[in-house]
Amino acid sequence: MAVAKSPEAEAVSRRGLLVGGVAALATGVVGAAGGYQARRFRERMITPAADSATSEFRRHAAAIRATQSRQTVEDVVALRRKYQDPIFGKARVWDMIEKLGMCVDASDDSLMCTSQLLHVQQVLEAMERDGVQDRDLFLVALLHDIGKVMLLTNAAPEHVVGYISPLGEPSHGIGLENVIFQFGHDEFIYSRIKDLVPERVAWTVRYHSAMVDTLRPYCNEQDLAHLDGCLAVFQPFDLCHKSYRHLPHVDMAKYRALIEDTFPQPILF
Ligand SMILES: [Fe+2]
Ligand SMILES: [Fe+2]
Repeated sequence: MAVAKSPEAEAVSRRGLLVGGVAALATGVVGAAGGYQARRFRERMITPAADSATSEFRRHAAAIRATQSRQTVEDVVALRRKYQDPIFGKARVWDMIEKLGMCVDASDDSLMCTSQLLHVQQVLEAMERDGVQDRDLFLVALLHDIGKVMLLTNAAPEHVVGYISPLGEPSHGIGLENVIFQFGHDEFIYSRIKDLVPERVAWTVRYHSAMVDTLRPYCNEQDLAHLDGCLAVFQPFDLCHKSYRHLPHVDMAKYRALIEDTFPQPILF
């Protein structure tokens, strides 16, 4: 004799069939035909979709970089003026570092959708692995990309991310202070921390998105000391350890202590 099921039991039973069916399809346990279907499922649904998402990300990233590279001196002046006022108000530097967990650099197809916080952790891990001991270099690693929190205020990505290079025609040896670069997260965070950290840390944060060889011709003596003593050491860690598949393991409590020690008070962001 058939036993009538309650509506809830029917629903659970239907859901069980559905979930079981999909799981069986995906793991290829529905017999010979099911194995074929599972393969087709993976081929048609997973691989091409992932490939097209990757291509789409790369296209979008290239478009942002192209737009950013077209910034003019007038754009830079306007952006510096716009961002001289606080956009977050007073905040603890550590809290801003944690906000990087919500930031993705859409122009960076080495990291894809990896958060900027994970990127910073990848840099720290690589520095530890290489035996770096210089406190200033760890400070640079923790601070260099904080400016990307601008993305959380709906700033246009081309005003925040991308590489920077000199605009116009500066003279050799003029000193980087007298050279205008594209505006971005570097200049933003430099303007917030420059009076609170050692000069070489602030300098390196300010120019970290420029290639060392692009900067060198325009450096004065002081610039060269920072370039060779700090940026040239830091930049390979920043650029060569990006991965959207590697989960870094670092003791963030230790780095929090370093930041709290450097910035005992909240600062204006
Ligand atoms: Fe950066
Ligand atoms: Fe970075």
